[in-house]
Amino acid sequence: MKIFEELESEVRSYARNFPRLFNKAEAEFIYDEEGKQYIDFLAGAGALNYGHNHPVFKQKLLDYIEANGITHSLDLHTEAKRAFLESFKEHILVPREMDYRLMFTGPTGTNSVEAALKLARKITGRTHVVAFTNGWHGQTLGALAMTANSHHRDGAGITLSGAHRIPYDGYLGDHVDTTEYLDKVLTDTSSGVDLPAAVIVETIQGEGGVNYCSIEWLRNLSAVCKKHDVLLIIDDIQAGCGRTGRFFSFEEAGIHPDMVTLSKSLSAYGLPFALVLFRPELDRWSPGEHNGTFRGNNHAFVTAKAALDLYWSDDEFAASVREKGEYIAKRLDAIVEKYGEGNFSAKGRGMFQGINCVNGEIASKITREAYRRGLIIETSGTNDEIIKLLCPLIIQQENLAKGIDILEESIRVICNHLDEIPEDSCYFDEVIIKGQKLEKDDAPNGEW
Ligand SMILES: Cc1ncc(COP(=O)(O)O)c(C=O)c1O
Repeated sequence: MKIFEELESEVRSYARNFPRLFNKAEAEFIYDEEGKQYIDFLAGAGALNYGHNHPVFKQKLLDYIEANGITHSLDLHTEAKRAFLESFKEHILVPREMDYRLMFTGPTGTNSVEAALKLARKITGRTHVVAFTNGWHGQTLGALAMTANSHHRDGAGITLSGAHRIPYDGYLGDHVDTTEYLDKVLTDTSSGVDLPAAVIVETIQGEGGVNYCSIEWLRNLSAVCKKHDVLLIIDDIQAGCGRTGRFFSFEEAGIHPDMVTLSKSLSAYGLPFALVLFRPELDRWSPGEHNGTFRGNNHAFVTAKAALDLYWSDDEFAASVREKGEYIAKRLDAIVEKYGEGNFSAKGRGMFQGINCVNGEIASKITREAYRRGLIIETSGTNDEIIKLLCPLIIQQENLAKGIDILEESIRVICNHLDEIPEDSCYFDEVIIKGQKLEKDDAPNGEW
């Protein structure tokens, strides 16, 4: 592990919580070099909805590479792109009566957010975009301005401008509809709130702590945007691609956003791939006005198409996600009731759920214990107090149950021994004692 310490930047994060060398992965499992199997409830932070190395997608990709299919093409027309567009139209757009253009952006989520923001500003001639408390939209400067977390905002090093922040659904309590506030300040020309170009919103705030808005709130938000001629951008980068039991997380609301950003699981194989959907009349780009060397990843076109054909030609897969989502909700409610003593609560929608442990230290002790027991799971929220379940949607029911069993057992252990387990406890290859980093090899008998 020393090479990572020596050469890789201190910015690495997940690697600190799971300090193993991983070398293989299949479906809902990931393996370390010693062959230890972990159930993966992190799943690339939502990039692996179809699990690791899906055999059908892998074969399609291998065949494509074997046949010298084009890997890089800027935005030239390729067979792979055509096939993806045809499948996306057939399985996603047409059945949902969605009339949208697709714009392929640079390869990662934040690139599609940047493109959507830029287009909204260009079309409306306005500068500000309304974003929500606890929102998360990426790390490049435009998207970071929309992101709420101060740890990340502080890293910008310059003033982040162009966002107007308003409270997300539930932020001011269950009985306050914050879209009414938005409507009021946009109506009142003396509110001091300039008419924005757009509103950008996640239907479930993944990094922000698995906060989800009600369907009614989402409909109201859409109506307020329409009323004031403000574009609605749904950032479906984490909640989209089936996570909620529908391809898009906003489908239940019956709304048609002006723009939708997609990335993470879109490629279906963990390959970098991002796009923006927008209504055709919003396609006011001139050729090359917004571009990027890696826009449109042909390998991702191949695997993404394979996923659309396999899982989205009917409702069977989506129904299985909804069913598993109900199972997760039941299990989490039971865990909260049994161990929570009013301190924990469960939240989320579909297969995007979490346990609020209120306290980040407790949540991290639980996830460390789970890791020791063979479950990889992460936290999110302002103080990392939410344990976030993001397992692959294709997970076998028995492994889903097993993963939640491990989580439950970890909660039981931590709840029973809360006072006894020190912060830098014994499960890791490295610990920090009195500010000094020590590795497992330094420990007596290799054990802490
Ligand atoms: C909702 C949402 N938007 C945007 C992003 C940024 O995506 P990326 O990290 O691929 O740039 C994320 C990443 O977690 C996200 O969850």
